[in-house]
Amino acid sequence: MASLTVRQLDDKLKKLLRLRAARHGRSMEDEVRTILRAAADEPDRATPDAVAAPRPSPLAARQESQPHAASEKKVLLIIGGGIAAYKSLDLIRRLRERGLGLHVAMTDAAQEFITPLSAGAINDARPYTDLFDPVHELSVGHIRLARSVHTVVVAPATADLIAKMANGHADDLASAILLATTANILLAPAMNPHMWANKATRRNMAQLIADGVHVIGPNAGEMAESGEAGVGRMAEPLEIVAAVQALLAPAPGLLAGVRMLVTSGPTHEPIDPVRYIANRSSGKQGHAIAEAAAVCGARVTLVSGPVNVPDPPGVHVIKVETAREMLSAVEQALPADVAVFAAAVADWRTATNSQEKIKKSGKQAPELMLVENPDILSSIAHLTSNRPKLVIGFAAETEHVVEHAEQKLARKNCDWILANDVSPETGIMGGDSNTIHLVTRTGVEHWPPQTKTEVASELVARIAQALRTTR
Ligand SMILES: Cc1cc2nc3c(=O)[nH]c(=O)nc-3n(C[C@H](O)[C@H](O)[C@H](O)COP(=O)(O)O)c2cc1C
Repeated sequence: MASLTVRQLDDKLKKLLRLRAARHGRSMEDEVRTILRAAADEPDRATPDAVAAPRPSPLAARQESQPHAASEKKVLLIIGGGIAAYKSLDLIRRLRERGLGLHVAMTDAAQEFITPLSAGAINDARPYTDLFDPVHELSVGHIRLARSVHTVVVAPATADLIAKMANGHADDLASAILLATTANILLAPAMNPHMWANKATRRNMAQLIADGVHVIGPNAGEMAESGEAGVGRMAEPLEIVAAVQALLAPAPGLLAGVRMLVTSGPTHEPIDPVRYIANRSSGKQGHAIAEAAAVCGARVTLVSGPVNVPDPPGVHVIKVETAREMLSAVEQALPADVAVFAAAVADWRTATNSQEKIKKSGKQAPELMLVENPDILSSIAHLTSNRPKLVIGFAAETEHVVEHAEQKLARKNCDWILANDVSPETGIMGGDSNTIHLVTRTGVEHWPPQTKTEVASELVARIAQALRTTR
């Protein structure tokens, strides 16, 4: 085998190697040995690129790969140098909880308030800090980064960063990315109320809004400086997340041509002509899913029990009362590519349905004999022909939420279960928000609390992603 010495390398490679070796405190020869050893361990990566763009650390390696591959939409968070930077650490966590692929960049001033180590540890990837990074910028990394994301969030957006953006500066990594990106930009300004009210900041903000930049906050309240209050507090992390999600909302056409079946609401099981067994389901979640899917171009059939929410636009709605009617409507609505069973179907009905109103006798209360209703989710998920590609159920639980959902997934043969805790104190039944645990055959994902509309958008995005990978 021919031997190779560092002297034989070309100048550019030698320079790179010198920088890399210095950073790791090794001799150049040792650095070469380390690279070769790593390359031998991973034969597929033993390409010239692996040497030309060495991975400086495991953290940086993860940064260069697709971060958190669960989502296709990437977000870049730029942290500016303000006191509110500490809240950005929570923001990182919240964005990651949504399964978003997240890159983080920090200005020099931001690093006076929080460290790259904290941001990197929470995001599981080293933050970008330097415009003139000798490794990353070999391939003009700041332009690649600016182009690779769907949304850039600046939080906190300092008066200084806002001024630089409004005037097109590009003298550091953050401003260069902001100038180079074609992605949505969302600013979360945070500063002293006098800075926010200053005519220069007003002018800069007016310019940025005219340029199409999105803004969340600032809120009114107490400032970090003692005794100061007014408008200037950064929006709370969850508010920023909601604004990001609105920007990431599924695009029309995402489910074009997909046949989707959704069930929603409760069922009513009659006891006699005036009385029935019911539950507290409002239909808000199922209807929101049907609407979100229709907005994304799916052909949606919604089979709904009795609800007080309006029919979603653009959706074919079939109204039913009982579990048996719901099953029959669902069967008639097949074939479908995706079926989402969000209805709270009554488990039982009375064995007999009195045709006359049952009268009080004054002696003994009537005995109600119950029999089990058909299990719609299980029936459809067990179909051998005509089974939708993706069968999704809901599990409303009051205890051991995830454990019960995992058992339900296996028992009912469905693909995903969206489990939620419907104990009265959660306010989920009939309320506008929901906290979902997505249980699939490969694991569990805990979604943060969000509105039922947000849950619907998230689910529709996941469905689109799953269909793409199975096509
Ligand atoms: C203690 C302290 C707190 C600061 N807080 C803020 C702030 O909340 N908002 C702001 O716009 N600037 C704040 N500044 C000023 C910025 O740090 C300064 O303008 C810096 O250049 C901003 O840099 P960057 O926008 O590149 O991160 C603060 C400065 C100090 C020393």
